[in-house]
Amino acid sequence: MANTKRVEITETVLRDAHQSLIATRMTTEQILGIVDKLDNVGYHSLEVWGGATFDACLRFLNEDPWERLRKIKAKAKKTPLQMLFRGQNILGYRHYGDDVVEYFVQKSIANGIDIIRIFDALNDVRNLKTAINATIKEKGHVQAAISYTLSDFHTNESFVKLAKQLEEMGASSICIKDMAGLLTPYTAYDLVSQMKKAVKIPIQLHTHYTSGLASMTYLKAIEAGVDVVDCAMSPMSLGTSQPPTESLVAALQGTPYDTGYDLNLLSEIADYFRPLREEYIASGLLNPKSLSVDANTLKYQVPGGMLSNLISQLKQQGKEDKYEEVLKEVPRVRADAGYPPLVTPSSQIVGTQAVFNVIMGERYKMTTKEFRGLVKGEYGKTPAPISPEFRKKIIGDEEVIECRPADLIPNELDKFRSEISEYIEQDEDVLSYALFGQVAINFFKYRQGQKYKIDPNLANTEEKTHPI
Ligand code: CO
Repeated sequence: MANTKRVEITETVLRDAHQSLIATRMTTEQILGIVDKLDNVGYHSLEVWGGATFDACLRFLNEDPWERLRKIKAKAKKTPLQMLFRGQNILGYRHYGDDVVEYFVQKSIANGIDIIRIFDALNDVRNLKTAINATIKEKGHVQAAISYTLSDFHTNESFVKLAKQLEEMGASSICIKDMAGLLTPYTAYDLVSQMKKAVKIPIQLHTHYTSGLASMTYLKAIEAGVDVVDCAMSPMSLGTSQPPTESLVAALQGTPYDTGYDLNLLSEIADYFRPLREEYIASGLLNPKSLSVDANTLKYQVPGGMLSNLISQLKQQGKEDKYEEVLKEVPRVRADAGYPPLVTPSSQIVGTQAVFNVIMGERYKMTTKEFRGLVKGEYGKTPAPISPEFRKKIIGDEEVIECRPADLIPNELDKFRSEISEYIEQDEDVLSYALFGQVAINFFKYRQGQKYKIDPNLANTEEKTHPI
């Protein structure tokens, strides 16, 4: 056997699992009730922050995300805390100036984050550079992530090359981030085997159960020598979430890969989440649909979360009958746009454009600002080149951005600070505002005790399930 050492688990129940299943609505109070027990398991890390948690705190829960992090840290004294960080996007949807990225990293670590998983939707390493360097400077663990996808331009060899590049850039570990659940068991075996030979740093695997493959994929990756895998406590596992923690722990017991985690303790933790799951089902937050296997994910290579977005976009237009047509259009738009991996924000950009192409009855009759930005190079370099003819059709004679997109963005922090001076109660507030603008101001007003009502337009701008 290729590997005979203990495997470790990152527990995702406090971040990705509830982001994937219940649109990130787990509250700080619900989280704090179980952190001390989770802290005793001996996990590699607890993923607790980043992704959509920050947005959901401000937008839907009237909570300060920074306060949530500090409270979790106060209870999790032994286990490293981990967050998901979208390169130059940070946790937002556009590229930010380097000063914002650096300050966000600094404050994340100062408030309790130990491991920062940094990814870019296009795997353009220039978009990871500032966040990686800032994390190193703040003495955090850089986990550089590779957005996994399939296309003629994405092979195991290309991912291994990317891993080497990330190691050279100073990553402390590599994550293979399979947000769509496209990685099959034997491909995973090959990919991890090759990567283990090529890099010295640990390799972690992240996948989703959407396509029904995840546990098999983990087992083969473990046999190939993967160091850490991401799982979620059983009541918040499966479907669009991660494989169940307890099952993997049991599967590895008594083998050289044994995690050593106590199944009785895990069972007590599951007892805590089970009634919460019932609550989420009763309130409609947890849709049974997101728990089933969706093989369309494999057929169209579309992440599960994106499928539900497409359905809701079509519903709003009264065009649900166009679903199959849109599904077929997605890979065509993706090909036109240089085969971006489908993960936030590229998944929303490609998905929305595919919907427009079908609804308008003519491809690219109407294009979104974001799609034009992607074609123009505003998000970085696409994995495959975009044909000059197609580019001209979409952006005309506008100049293409060839440099690192953030090189064109001046420092922004001082401007943001002056815009919200009346609301600032802590240093971190400027970062909340930088990322979420009016949503953050609404929260600041709520915090000041002003009469507050959720603006329905703001509440609806976040799609329910981002592929993450
Ligand atoms: Co994920």
